[in-house]
Amino acid sequence: MPDSSSDVSAALPPSPRPVRFWFRGAITAVDVVDPTRSVLDWLREEQRAVGTKEGCNEGDCGACTVVVGTLEGDGQLALRAINACIQFLPMLDGKALFTVEDLRALTGGTALHPVQQAMVDCHGSQCGFCTPGFVMSLWALYEGRATAPARQDVADALAGNLCRFTGYRPILDAGMRMFAAPRLALSRAPIVAALAQLRADPPLACGRAGARFVAPRTLDELARLRAAQPEARIVAGATDVGLWVTKR
Ligand code: FES
Repeated sequence: MPDSSSDVSAALPPSPRPVRFWFRGAITAVDVVDPTRSVLDWLREEQRAVGTKEGCNEGDCGACTVVVGTLEGDGQLALRAINACIQFLPMLDGKALFTVEDLRALTGGTALHPVQQAMVDCHGSQCGFCTPGFVMSLWALYEGRATAPARQDVADALAGNLCRFTGYRPILDAGMRMFAAPRLALSRAPIVAALAQLRADPPLACGRAGARFVAPRTLDELARLRAAQPEARIVAGATDVGLWVTKR
């Protein structure tokens, strides 16, 4: 929530700087030239992290599901499944990004994560294209609680994931079964410390002439930027603007 009590004399717009976020166990800095570059394209084309799939590329199918971590007001790490295809890279600033490849690291690379093992045990994958997205949505659910939820809660967690071949019953079974395995929770302390460190970064500005991204942190900053550039497009979750970009 913007804080309207900030110092309105602060210089705006802020100076350009790299986008900084937690990725693969460390703070990553990315110089972003095109602020509408999607997280999905960055993952697949620049990181070669092709476990995250492109299906519809418009936020409908969930094949591109990744998990984003944010530091909440109470200092706790909140993990949410999002669609990487309509998330712009600068929107990761100050957050943590997890993809299906990170689950392998959590096991030490020696076994499947309990979420993945449950999918195997319950025959929750057929062609496999949608599977990484399902796994990441299930992982966000798994990380959010220590015991099995109601089956409807699993269904709700998977509301953004489409499967055309396997059918949903075995996937829902896996969403229940994953809690029966020995617990393998994310180590949160280093991530919380890193995100707290990122809070000290100045407000983000990146891009190039004619395509600039600025992320004001207070209502006053937003108002001043809006007054200076009334033609600027305001982006919130990008579920609208993201489609304009991917479909054009
Ligand atoms: Fe379908 Fe992103 S590719 S939701």
